[in-house]
Amino acid sequence: MAAFDTLRWRDGKLEMLDQRALPDHCLYLAFDSAQGVAAAIRDMVVRGAPAIGCAAAYGIALEARRLQQEPKDIFATGLDQAFHVLAQSRPTAVNLFWALERMRARLNALRESGQTEIAAALLEEARAISAEDVRLNRRMGEHGSALLRDGARVLTHCNAGALATAGHGTALGVIRSAVASGKKISVIVDETRPFLQGARLTAWELQQDDIPVTLIADNAAGFLISRREIDAVIVGADRVAANGDVANKIGTYSVAVLARRHAVPFYVACPLSTIDQRIASGADIPIEERGPEEVTGYGAVRWAPPGIDVRNPVFDVTPAELVTALITEKGVTWAPDETKIAALFNSK
Ligand code: MRU
Repeated sequence: MAAFDTLRWRDGKLEMLDQRALPDHCLYLAFDSAQGVAAAIRDMVVRGAPAIGCAAAYGIALEARRLQQEPKDIFATGLDQAFHVLAQSRPTAVNLFWALERMRARLNALRESGQTEIAAALLEEARAISAEDVRLNRRMGEHGSALLRDGARVLTHCNAGALATAGHGTALGVIRSAVASGKKISVIVDETRPFLQGARLTAWELQQDDIPVTLIADNAAGFLISRREIDAVIVGADRVAANGDVANKIGTYSVAVLARRHAVPFYVACPLSTIDQRIASGADIPIEERGPEEVTGYGAVRWAPPGIDVRNPVFDVTPAELVTALITEKGVTWAPDETKIAALFNSK
């Protein structure tokens, strides 16, 4: 288990590790409303598809707790607004909407209950979503670690670790499990421009666990792959379409193309809650575009000329045909396609 909590419930509040401050400061921020949690998701205090889903679930629980003594109509309207504001926070990671739907279903089942009871049940549901996430990540880790040989040099992009989940991680969970099983694994991490999730988060997270990690500039990946210095690529996902197309952090597609060009396996690790069967192909996945300031500089530093036109799509889509295998809690699915993905939902 990683040596930190990404999210934790303390004294009636949700505390989240402020990922904007890493790796320099390990700082927890406390939240007591859905509005606050939605702003934290939008502003990247918490990020990564499963972690966003867990945060949103706690956001609903917080709002119910905050309004539990209010009259019935204020309680009901307040909760509706909480669902709305959280659903608006970020568009691409489907785990956000999956978690909100699960919280809505729990709420709908409690129509006859008192408000205190509803608030307690919603907190229980949020806790269950988080605990389940860690369990599923461990299961994915067990399935995926068999794909990595002892001594493997593994390239990853962005952060799909404990920081992006309730714990253990998806792509990094596979690596953690392989290391725990006694294999020597070294990780090469893309810095992941523009928000530097690789350089700031994955590098820090793996250092905490003493897993050997080497940071590279994004544009160095092709060189290392062409020199046969990478044995496998593992990434997470923000949304997988019904046909197996994968939306993940911008730059993932380029890595997948390079991996195919050089016959290096390209693995995607994600729970079934990241698969959106309502979306037929990657072309229909909503891709978030963020502000220009993430591209023109970082923090207080700016390197581009003022007034420059900027595009900042923060996710891209890797077609299923480039995915060697999908690693989920159900096992390893080689060359994922619509039929195999549908079967995952029907298997035990
Ligand atoms: O913009 P972010 O940092 O939320 O993007 C996160 C990613 O793209 C991760 O790779 C993805 O969510 C997988 S997390 C287990």
